[in-house]
Amino acid sequence: MSSSSLLFILALALFITSSECSLFDPYHVHVTNILSQNKILLVHCKSKDDDLGVHNLTVGQEFSWSFKLNFFGTTLFWCYMAPDDHSHVAFKVFWVSGKLFDRCDAAQNCFWVAKDDGVYLRDTRRNEDVYKQEWQPGRFKADHNQGDLDTND
Ligand SMILES: *[C@@H]1O[C@H](CO)[C@@H](O)[C@H](O)[C@H]1NC(C)=O
Repeated sequence: MSSSSLLFILALALFITSSECSLFDPYHVHVTNILSQNKILLVHCKSKDDDLGVHNLTVGQEFSWSFKLNFFGTTLFWCYMAPDDHSHVAFKVFWVSGKLFDRCDAAQNCFWVAKDDGVYLRDTRRNEDVYKQEWQPGRFKADHNQGDLDTND
């Protein structure tokens, strides 16, 4: 056996024993518009390799996507969201973190919910929404990048 395949197996064993989550099953991120007064939520999510495009969600509508973790544990998606033409927020919606995974459900669904006062992450175990991001003043940036992110937590 080559040393690199031995390393792979070791890393795999470590990952499996240190986590309840399945390495091979996909994760699903959901973003839902629960704004008041029929406001449109603009959502633009990206990773380093993928641009998921701009989606304008009506109230009650959700945008979701699925993916598998990369081997290096560096999977990262971020979203730009705007509830109107004068506020927005840009933040990490998925990264490899026990803190995030604890909020997601057993089928590896993670739910972000946009409300009038900001964006919440659903705690699926307690069935409550945890406030995470305040809307920031400013307008839609057409091509947001990782460097433009507001801080998490
Ligand atoms: C979404 O809404 C924005 C702002 O109103 C608009 O500029 C954009 O063209 C819309 N995009 C899509 C895909 O509908």
